[in-house]
Amino acid sequence: MPRILVMGGSNSHTSINRELARFAAKCVDADCSQDVETILLDLNDFAMPVFSVDLERQDGIPDAAKRFVNDIEGCDGVVISLAEHNGSYSVGFKNVFDWASRYKVKVWSEKPMLLMATSPGGRGGAGVLGAASATFPHMGAEVVATFSLPAFSTNFDSESGILDTGLKTAFEEAVSAFAAKLVE
Ligand SMILES: Cc1cc2nc3c(=O)[nH]c(=O)nc-3n(C[C@H](O)[C@H](O)[C@H](O)COP(=O)(O)O)c2cc1C
Repeated sequence: MPRILVMGGSNSHTSINRELARFAAKCVDADCSQDVETILLDLNDFAMPVFSVDLERQDGIPDAAKRFVNDIEGCDGVVISLAEHNGSYSVGFKNVFDWASRYKVKVWSEKPMLLMATSPGGRGGAGVLGAASATFPHMGAEVVATFSLPAFSTNFDSESGILDTGLKTAFEEAVSAFAAKLVE
C-alpha cells in the first residue's frame, strides 16, 4: 500500500494550507487504484531553534531535522501545500527545511510530490509556489504536479472541496497525475 506524507507548509493551528493538503490526500486516496496510507505531518512537531551555522557548529543538527528527513525517506510520495509569507516560504516551514537540508541536501529523497499553495488573496501563493517549483527538484523532489488555489475562503468548502469549476478541473488533474505516479 503506498504511503503518502501530507503537510501544510505552515505552523499555524488554523492553517488553510494544511486543510488543502489534507483534502488533496483524501482525493488521492479516492483516485488511486490502490488503498493509500496517509501520514499527516504537523510542522509543530518539528520545533527547532532558528537555523544558524554557529548553532550547527556548536550543537550539531537537531534530532527533529533528522526525523523530518527520515519521515520523508519512509514514504512513497509527498503532498504539500505551502503558505506564502511576504512572497516566500513561511518561517516555520523554512526553518525545518533549512535544518533538514543540512542533514540531507536532497531533502525530498527523490519522492513524487504534489506541490500546492493557497492563500486568502488572488495570487494563491504564486510566489512561494514558483520558488518551490524552481528549488525542490534540485533538492530531490520529483514534482509530478502543481496547483495554486487563490482566494481560499471563496473557492474552498470543507465539505464540497474546490468550488470554482476551472480550478476544480485543474486540481483533479493534479491529483490524478500524482495518484498514478504512486502505483507506477
Ligand atoms: C507575515 C505574513 C506575510 C504574508 N504574506 C503574504 C503574501 O506575500 N502573499 C499572500 O498571498 N498572503 C500573505 N499572507 C497571508 C497568508 O497567505 C495567510 O495568513 C494564510 O492563511 C497563510 O497560510 P496558512 O493559513 O496555511 O498559514 C501573509 C501573512 C503573514 C502573517
